[in-house]
Amino acid sequence: MTTTKIIIDTDPGQDDAVAILLALTSPEIEVLGITSVAGNVPLPLTTLNALKCCELAGRPDIPVYAGAAAPLVRPLITAEEVHGRTGLDGPDLPEPSMKLQDGHAVDFIIETLRREDPGTVTLCTLGPLTNIALAFSKAPDIKPRVKQIVAMGGGAFEGGNTTPVAEFNILVDPHAAQAVLQSGIPVVMMPLDVTHKCLTKRSRIQKYRDLNTRVGEAVALMLEYFERFDESKYGSDGGPLHDPTVIAWLLRPEIFGGRDINVEVETGSELTMGQTVADWWGVTDRPKNVHFVRDVDDDAFFDLLIERIGTL
Ligand code: RIB
Ligand code: CA
Repeated sequence: MTTTKIIIDTDPGQDDAVAILLALTSPEIEVLGITSVAGNVPLPLTTLNALKCCELAGRPDIPVYAGAAAPLVRPLITAEEVHGRTGLDGPDLPEPSMKLQDGHAVDFIIETLRREDPGTVTLCTLGPLTNIALAFSKAPDIKPRVKQIVAMGGGAFEGGNTTPVAEFNILVDPHAAQAVLQSGIPVVMMPLDVTHKCLTKRSRIQKYRDLNTRVGEAVALMLEYFERFDESKYGSDGGPLHDPTVIAWLLRPEIFGGRDINVEVETGSELTMGQTVADWWGVTDRPKNVHFVRDVDDDAFFDLLIERIGTL
């Protein structure tokens, strides 16, 4: 089996946590490291939560590096109303015994891309793109060495989830997002258009509880906490499970559908700040810089999740 080497850049976040668990339970994937970024909650908490996720997966060997505490230009906004004060409300996970790596996440990203063979490392981004943009700015030589970026973020037909037009990850750091989309690196975008078709649903959460495992119970508690915000907002059965779609793309790309289009990010207007302007119908001659994913077999997606996480 050929393995895919990835770096996970993340702001855990219950959905980030499930994505990390999926990656760490999939033999097709080699996680070279996890880099934290401020987003759902401030950096100290996203960093702590990344360590907790590795220990929950029984993987204290995974190197975790702390990254950017604030966006490139704008002040940090967070999402405790969704994820809770800790960012990982729901289960009561123990304080991690594994240690945070010395050094900055941006330097880890740079050093890893310079060490690994060109075109072999995928960047999986589950939060604001600040670390990635900083790495590309500090070391432009690494850009052609990146295989691809698979990013949860943005929205088009689905609109936004934080403003009427902006999705959280992009809105937190729109300047970083625009820099990454202009980097020339192939980007697969998992926007709200596809993640809103991946609802946690009560029946799907019950499957984690039915595992009768410590991890299964922790995931059930995470998702029950996480979904309450979107259920009340959208009146849906369950909430959209955003970040695991990034990892699922690497494992089962055939369950997703999308097309190569141009996507740009609004960084000027306060009214539409962070909007991903997606040229789905090709009405401009702007370069097709993004594979924009809109469709998913959501049953297959959740079957993959329970199959892999059920191995813990
Ligand atoms: O808008 C959803 C995204 O913002 C997800 O990555 C979630 O974890 C938050 O970071
Ligand atoms: Ca996230």
